[in-house]
Parts: sequence; structure tokens; C-alpha cells
Amino acid sequence: MASKNILFVDDEKMVLDGMRRALRPMRKLLSMHFATSGRDALGLMEEKPVDIVITDMRMPGMDGATLLGEVKTLYPETIRIVLTGQADDDATYRAIRVAHQFLTKPCPPDILKMVIKRACMLHELMAHPLLKKAVSSLDHLPSLPSIYVEIQEKINDPEASVEEIGAIIEKDLGMSTKILQLVNSAFFGHYKNIESPSRAVSLLGLNVIKSLLLTLKVFSQCDNPKLSSSFLENLWNHSFETAVFAKNIAEDVTDDKDISDHAFTSGLLHDVGKLVLAYNLPDKYKKAMKVAVMEKKELRKAEFRVFKASHAEIGGYLLGLWGLPGDVVEALSFHHRPHQYPSNNFSIPSMVACADMISHELNPDECTGTLPHLEQAELKRSDPTGRMEKWRVMCRETKERGIE
Ligand SMILES: [Fe+2]
Ligand SMILES: [Fe+2]
Repeated sequence: MASKNILFVDDEKMVLDGMRRALRPMRKLLSMHFATSGRDALGLMEEKPVDIVITDMRMPGMDGATLLGEVKTLYPETIRIVLTGQADDDATYRAIRVAHQFLTKPCPPDILKMVIKRACMLHELMAHPLLKKAVSSLDHLPSLPSIYVEIQEKINDPEASVEEIGAIIEKDLGMSTKILQLVNSAFFGHYKNIESPSRAVSLLGLNVIKSLLLTLKVFSQCDNPKLSSSFLENLWNHSFETAVFAKNIAEDVTDDKDISDHAFTSGLLHDVGKLVLAYNLPDKYKKAMKVAVMEKKELRKAEFRVFKASHAEIGGYLLGLWGLPGDVVEALSFHHRPHQYPSNNFSIPSMVACADMISHELNPDECTGTLPHLEQAELKRSDPTGRMEKWRVMCRETKERGIE
């Protein structure tokens, strides 16, 4: 990997010195720059391109959220990370819209190194020339739906209630009907007779509802007469199933609700790149599907042949542009190669990879080309706890319950 320019912004010089010391072992990978204010940071960026910015939140003059907002507009390829002391800070909520990743202070050096390594990979992805070429050949990238932006803005308002968020969803009649249908399905367990979006939000959590809305909207944006309804239906069913399975798997290995929510979102969106490719270039996509079937290949490998990129990278790229959380973007990009994802733990890309594989195993007829499979070595890494068999049973039961 080429060396990256990384810029640290903090008004306390001692913090910057600490960073410099902690990251000395990474000096081959990183060329480090430091600024003590938002203004200085922007000045420095004008002179030389910066790949990754890590900024403090509270600084006199321009705060971290404002700085990252500017960076997002001026240099959209730069990876934006926030270091923050208070998780419930007002400004932190504002930063949700502009940061790829959040770190809490004080950040242990090995976590900092891991996050920076991932940021380097994410930057590599966003700036990859072949991928950029593939994306630039697409006329219509779906836009981040306005209802998602509206809800996100509401969350930034500390006074906002669950009812107000429910009311935003209710304004879109078609969407709220679909959401309620899904929430009442047996896939989510034992919820019955949920009649309002605000009730759905309080039971399942805002993140799950937000991801459902986002994905449903993107699917409706990509409704194209050139795409068969069975293609769209299969893709939606597979995406939803992968989301529910990834959430189940996450809940089996961790109590961290953020992780299981991100696993759900990543599962729901993991194949959005297929939709984007098929919507923009339906004939070429049919060709890739044909290659996969005729040559008995995995679809992603056939996509590589035709587009020089696969749906995994295209999807990750799109979510990166939308500014979705870094671990969701990474999970999308790595869902077919979780072993390459730098992590010491069983991570979200692995959860999505296992969920994806189980969903395909349960619906072999709906898979174009050969089933995606994880090599034995990958599987070992993806499933260090040896729980794969248990998950297969658990997911099959979830599916059977959902169809009832
Ligand atoms: Fe995939
Ligand atoms: Fe998939």
C-alpha cells in the first residue's frame, strides 16, 4: 500500500505529541502532519493533498464537526475521523453526518493503529483508479434518500422524540406500510400488531428502522423496466435475510447493540452494488450473470471480468460517498474477503460473510453462478469460535419462522 498523508488536528499540543509518539511504528505507512486549529488544517490541506484527517471535536474557533463538513465538501475522498471526549455532546451529533469513524478519548494506541490501518484501506478503495473508472461509467448513482437525511437531522435535535421520528416516516404512506409489514413479520421474533412507525422505532431501535427505510428507498430508486421483477425480488429477499441473519450472528457473539445494528445495516446493504450495476448497465450486467452461469463461477468474479470491479467494492464506494459509518462501508467492501480485513476480533465483515453464505445455502436456486464460499482458511478466521453449524441451524429456524 502506498504511504498515506495523515493530518491530526487538536488544539492541545500535548495530544498531538502523544499521537506522534504512539504512531512512530507506523512511519513507513504514514506521513504525519499536525495542525492546532481547523483553520490551520484547511490551510495545510490547500497546499498538499491529505488522505486521512483525525480531528478533535472541541476546539476554539472552528470545531471538529465544522472542519469535517468543510473537508467533506472540498475533498470528498479524504477519510474523516473524529476523536471525541463526550459521546452525547451536541457537536458529536452534528459530526455523525460528516465523519466516517468515531474514536473516543483517550484512545489506546493499538486501537488507534487499527483504525488508521482500516482508514488507509478505505482510502485506497475510494481512490482506486479502476473502481473510480467503473463508477464514472455509471450515469445514475442512487442518492441518499431525503427521508433518511430528514431523520438523521431529527436525531441531531436532542429534544426530538420517538413520535416525531415516527411522524416523518408516516408522511410517506407507502414506506410506512412496507416498514410495518416487515416489522410485524416473524423474522423479528415475537413482535405482533405493531401499528405505528414510532412503536416500531421504540421496539427495534432507530438504527434498524433507518436502515430498512434507506434500503427500501434505494431499491425503489433503482426500479427499472429493464430489470426483471424476479431479479429485484430475489435481491431484496436475499438482502433482508442476510441482514436478519447477520444480526442474529452478532447477537450470538456480542452484547454490543451498536455492533448488531451495524451488522444488520451492512447485511441489508451488502449487495447494493449489484443493484447499482444492474440498474445502470442492465445489458452488461446480464452478460456478467451469463458468464457466471456458463463458466460456473461466482458472480463477483464474473463481474470483475466485465466491470473491472465487483459489487462489493462498488457498494462500499457508494456508501462511502454517502458518509455512512466506516464499519458499514468496510463490511460491504470486505464481505467476500473478510480474511483481508484488519481485525483481531470476529468482525462485522465476517458476520456478513457468514450470513450471506448461509442465506445462499438456504436458497441455492436463487443464486446466479456458483455459491459464494469462504475458503477453509478464511472460514477458520471468520468463525474462530467454531459456531458456524449452530448459526446454520439458528438461521434456518429464523427463516422457517419468517415464512410461516
Ligand atoms: Fe455479495
Ligand atoms: Fe449476498
